[in-house]
Amino acid sequence: MTNSLRALAWLLALPLHDALAGEVEMLHWWTSPGEQAAFAVVTTQLQGAGVELKNAAILGGGGNSAMEVLQARAIAGNPPALAQLEGQAIASWTLLGFIQPQDEVAGEQEWDRQLLGVAPRVNKIGGHYMGIPGNVHRLNWMWVNRALLARLDMDPPTDWPGFLDAVRALRAKGIKPLALGNDPWQVALLFESLALGMGGKEYYQKAFVELDPVALGSDTSRQILDRFRELSELVLPTLSGQSWDQATADLAEGRAAFQLMGDWVLGDLLARGVAVPEQVQCLPAPGTQGLYVYNMDSFVMFNANLPKDHLTIARALASPDFQLAFNRANGSIPVRRELSLADFNPCAQLSRIDYDRAEAAGNLMPSVADSMALHPLYQKAVESELYRFFNQPDLDREGVIRRLGAVARSASSTSIEARLR
Ligand code: BGC
Repeated sequence: MTNSLRALAWLLALPLHDALAGEVEMLHWWTSPGEQAAFAVVTTQLQGAGVELKNAAILGGGGNSAMEVLQARAIAGNPPALAQLEGQAIASWTLLGFIQPQDEVAGEQEWDRQLLGVAPRVNKIGGHYMGIPGNVHRLNWMWVNRALLARLDMDPPTDWPGFLDAVRALRAKGIKPLALGNDPWQVALLFESLALGMGGKEYYQKAFVELDPVALGSDTSRQILDRFRELSELVLPTLSGQSWDQATADLAEGRAAFQLMGDWVLGDLLARGVAVPEQVQCLPAPGTQGLYVYNMDSFVMFNANLPKDHLTIARALASPDFQLAFNRANGSIPVRRELSLADFNPCAQLSRIDYDRAEAAGNLMPSVADSMALHPLYQKAVESELYRFFNQPDLDREGVIRRLGAVARSASSTSIEARLR
């Protein structure tokens, strides 16, 4: 069964308004071991504030299935009280009038001043905080199984030609190079690191954040797609449709050498008792040193089922103690600028240092694959083109470039963001 069918089956089995009186239902996609640990922190925090949370978890990394369920429930008039949302989706739900502004608590707690700069950028729509910022994730990480590389006397690659050489060498030894599930979201994340690492920040910004037809149709795009094809031909025979966290288990247990994926991998490694960075090391994705690709999870409240204690909930989720405990479990970094990460894992500490440097240098890049840059409609269209190209060796790169150009044209003629910002 596909994730969407599973999601639909779940939805149909759900009696309307089934949260017990007094319970606050939260829809999210934190289902891997590390994510469950992070969600347990949400539950405990809200319990401490006198709020019982009902867990509406929907399987599927990146949240595609969760977003389908959310849409169906909202249209049926039964949205959850709380939901995990990302970036551009917050703007869409705001435009439709479904979600509750958080300006009161944002004002009280001076979010504009206290939070990292990406928090207002992502959560403020038309001057109002529409989401409660939960974390900042770094996406351009390369997770490396050190023992595997040491056994082959191999240094971790720092650029894409080096990465492809490493992949070839690992294949020749019969070792699976990439911990990757062959699913559109994971493949799009891989492409994002490749496009940024090869094309650099100006190209990435123009081609994939602004969907600029000239950048999309450039020779840089051709070179990137050629590398993507090379990589797919090397790794496809070793891939299955596994979830990102099953892939992380392969990495942790020495069945695969690298994983190019966001820092939720760190949350999972820690939940599995893996020593990081001693066993699995975190390094910037090849060619992306000094750049920081971010995404951010936000908590939003649906006004059709707004809990009466919504201010208490917002205060609890934005509090410093929650931010510390939640992000330590999640692998991400807190959104509150002043918090010390002294007892965080070294990879999270490095993420915060790199965030600050990238912010000062103008090197913070929104993730395209994970909903920070494009409206979900165009993000899906780009994702599906890349996924088809990755899986179909006979697909011509010029066709992909043409179709991405068509996505860019329709995006520029229907910009929703322009109506909101
Ligand atoms: C979310 C993370 C989550 C990951 C994998 C991302 O879109 O931002 O919080 O851990 O998906 O499920």
